[in-house]
Amino acid sequence: MEKKITVIKGDGIGPEIVNEALKVLDAVAKKYNHTFTYTDILMGGASIDVHGVPLTDEAIEVAKASDAVLLGSIGGDTTTSPWYQLEPSLRPEAGLLKMRKELGLFANLRPAYLYNELKEACPLKEEIIQDGFDMMIMRELTGGLYFGERKTQEIDGQMVAHDNLVYSEKEIRRIAKRGFDIAMKRRQKVTSVDKANVLDSSRLWRKVVNEVARDYPEVELEHMLVDNCAMQLVRNPRQFDVILTENMFGDILSDEASMVTGSIGMLSSASLRDDCFGMYEPSHGSAPDIAGKNIANPIATILSAAMMLRYSFDMDEEADAIENAIKKILKDGYRTIDIMSKGHKEVSCSKMGDLIVENL
Ligand code: IPM
Ligand code: MG
Repeated sequence: MEKKITVIKGDGIGPEIVNEALKVLDAVAKKYNHTFTYTDILMGGASIDVHGVPLTDEAIEVAKASDAVLLGSIGGDTTTSPWYQLEPSLRPEAGLLKMRKELGLFANLRPAYLYNELKEACPLKEEIIQDGFDMMIMRELTGGLYFGERKTQEIDGQMVAHDNLVYSEKEIRRIAKRGFDIAMKRRQKVTSVDKANVLDSSRLWRKVVNEVARDYPEVELEHMLVDNCAMQLVRNPRQFDVILTENMFGDILSDEASMVTGSIGMLSSASLRDDCFGMYEPSHGSAPDIAGKNIANPIATILSAAMMLRYSFDMDEEADAIENAIKKILKDGYRTIDIMSKGHKEVSCSKMGDLIVENL
């Protein structure tokens, strides 16, 4: 097959980790007789430095004309980087939000699971971990507080800031369907997370999710308030299969869930729309403090590339091959510094990429 991939290396460790993912994709192409062509575009700080804006319209057009987007990470140190002296709409994150909106990527899948080989990195007690956990956070990505109208203005002699949280039934229904579809392929449980004891948007969320649930009688649905969910993620993460939630809650809970696994450097993510187009990126950030040192963990990005093969290109066998190669390498004891523990072999970012290629 021939596929056009838009590549956004981004900022911080982005270029290093994406290069390793490209190495792996090239090896997959060779082994399975595919042709992947890559077009680089700039986004985030890298784009600000060249164009003065975090994402140009031309860059969006390139992404739209491709089959999928592979993204490293964007942004820098918010206290020291000059990018954060700019007005909010010109900062690196604005590029990412614009990309999500322009491409209509409303469904954000963030898997969080515990690798058996990395159990010692999990901060939870053995009796909580038991035989591990495996959940999928399904975050709505193009609505809610992130995209509501916002303004800061002076009222009665003081500054007042507004951020609007808006959800329509249509927006809730399409993400809920996606969540239930995914649950059908997993352990058939959906935990819908909201703040229905306070927010109107959450009450509508709950109503629509209940309606969608009627079409999925096999799936067990429970509703959970977001504050309780934050607690349950630490108390008993094994209870979760699919967590379905709105944009802001999903942002916060997915960071918590990834930390609970103890291996944020290992977690991939996908942002999808209704067809098979998607943008794929690691769940972690740009880690500017370790950029350029060749010590970052490229596995989350390589797993994101595997997700791209699976969800956008329908290449399950190829995706399995990447995931199995990674499991093998962990079993063989190779670790980047973030997941290093006694008795294992520490390797660099590029060495990790090489090892995965060798084991495909
Ligand atoms: C994420 C990030 C982004 C978000 C930022 C960089 C705008 O935290 O992808 O979770 O809040 O969505
Ligand atoms: Mg986040």
